[in-house]
This record gives sequence, structure tokens and C-alpha cells, in this order.
Amino acid sequence: MSYLLSSENFIKMSEFIYRKSGIYLEEEKHFEKLAKFVDDRCKKIGADNFRKYFFKLRFEDKDGTEFQELMNGITVNETYFYREVNQFEVVANYLLPELNRSRPKSAPLRILSAPCSTGEEPYSIVLHILEEGKIVDQRDIEIVGIDIDSTVIDKARKGEFSTRSVHAIPKNVLAQWFRKKGLGYAIVDDLVGAVDFKVANVFDRTEMRKLGKFDIIFSRNMLIYFDDASRKEVAMTFYDMLNPGGYVLLGHAEYMSRIVSVFNAKKIDTTLVYQK
Ligand SMILES: C[S@@+](CC[C@H](N)C(=O)[O-])C[C@H]1O[C@@H](n2cnc3c(N)ncnc32)[C@H](O)[C@@H]1O
Repeated sequence: MSYLLSSENFIKMSEFIYRKSGIYLEEEKHFEKLAKFVDDRCKKIGADNFRKYFFKLRFEDKDGTEFQELMNGITVNETYFYREVNQFEVVANYLLPELNRSRPKSAPLRILSAPCSTGEEPYSIVLHILEEGKIVDQRDIEIVGIDIDSTVIDKARKGEFSTRSVHAIPKNVLAQWFRKKGLGYAIVDDLVGAVDFKVANVFDRTEMRKLGKFDIIFSRNMLIYFDDASRKEVAMTFYDMLNPGGYVLLGHAEYMSRIVSVFNAKKIDTTLVYQK
């Protein structure tokens, strides 16, 4: 199969992607995906070679559309409800009650899911808080979900999910908070809007700062796509975005102690959390 993207241009393109998004692509693993994407974009914009496409991407993309297409094309968005469920239980049963006691009474408790992909992670937080039942009566809780990929954010806002995506939700919870829609499920209308979804790049410090301060940040299964320098940068961004005493939770293959040493690691049951 011949592509417009050569091996030499793969390096140029992967350097550009790394610089802008932290995503580290390796030629052996990712060449085909990127090459197919470039062919597809070239066809759509009428470019007959890589140089024209790359010029447009770097110098003529004033509104960021071409970069957004690139991000939407290369990200891995795998997610599902109740993934690594212990973490949601720890948030609802330990961290939120503790923060409810320690944070000023008038302040809402704020939780960030970065990245949230199609919304299953922040909605799993919502469902655990509702199932726990006590905290919601005592505090305003705000949940924000961000992702660099605008197609997943559009999907998240709709609140519609495949059967596979809801497979780990207990039957009674599914019956209470979802209705059948087409071949999958839709979250009940009362919960659409329970999460504030936004397109944002974790490397864009200005955008991240605009989101405000948080008490808990979930960042699961994104840092694995970054190299050490990018992981460090993002970890420090999260540190700055946390209120004192706030927590970060990472994916099961991600360890803060290997990235930065500014957090205190704590084990609650079997779950590792990192406190500012
Ligand atoms: C595998 S999903 C993880 C979703 C969810 N946290 C989970 O664990 O189920 C990884 C997500 O990271 C997003 N992502 C990658 N680089 C990003 C960046 N620089 N800023 C924000 N999101 C990013 C991708 O678009 C993708 O949706």
C-alpha cells in the first residue's frame, strides 16, 4: 500500500503532534493509522501531496479546524462505565466525605475528569455520588469533563451509550438512570447536563487555568500516551489546579511517584490516591 506520508515525514508530523498535544507516536505502531489519516485529509482538502497538507496544518489553520481534525483522528478514546470501579467507590465513600468536612462550607466540591472521552468516567462519578446519597444533600458538587477530541465531547453531551459501554453498571443502577435508546442506552434527562463537558488540551495552560480550581482530578489512561517530560508537565498543571488537600487519581498502569514527587501517595482500601 502506498501512502502520501513517507517515513521521513512521519517523523516531522509526529514531532508536531508531540509538541502540540504531548501524544507520542511511534513509527512501528502508529505509521499506518497516521498515513491513512493524512491520505483522507488530503483527499478532503484537495491536497495532492503531504507538503501541502502539512503547510496548511502549520501555517493556514487560523481557526484550529485542521488541528482539531488531526486530534479527532489520532486519539484513542477507549472507555466504559465503572472502569476500575474501586476508584469511584473511594471518591464517594472516603474522599468526598473528608473534603466535605475540611473544605469551607459555602464552597462547592469540584471534580475534573481529564480526559473524559465520551463521558463514561464523569457520569460514573455522578452515579456513585447519587448511589451514596448523603453528600448530594449537603453540598453542591460540580463535575467537569474535558478532552482534546471534539467528536468525543459532542457524543458525551448527548448522553447516549452503547450496550458494551454500560456492561459493568449494576442492573438496578442501569434501570434507574438509563432508558433504552435504539441499540444502546440514553442517560435519563435529569442527568443530561450533570457534567459540564468542554474541549480542552491539558497542555494549554491558559485553557486549563480557566477551568478553575478542583478538589479531585481524575486523569486515567491518558498519561500512558505521553513521554516523561509531558507527564511531568501535566502532573504539575494538575497540582496547580488543585485546592490544598485535593486529590489526583490515575489509571491502573500510571504512578505519580514515577512522574513528580510533590504529591503524598495514600492507599485507601486497594486504591492509590495522590494528595496535594
Ligand atoms: C483512553 S481515553 C481515557 C478515557 C477515560 N479517562 C478512561 O480512563 O476511561 C484517553 C483520552 O485522552 C484524550 N487526550 C489525549 N491527549 C490529550 C490532551 N493533550 N488533552 C486532553 N485530552 C487528551 C484522548 O482524546 C482520549 O479520549
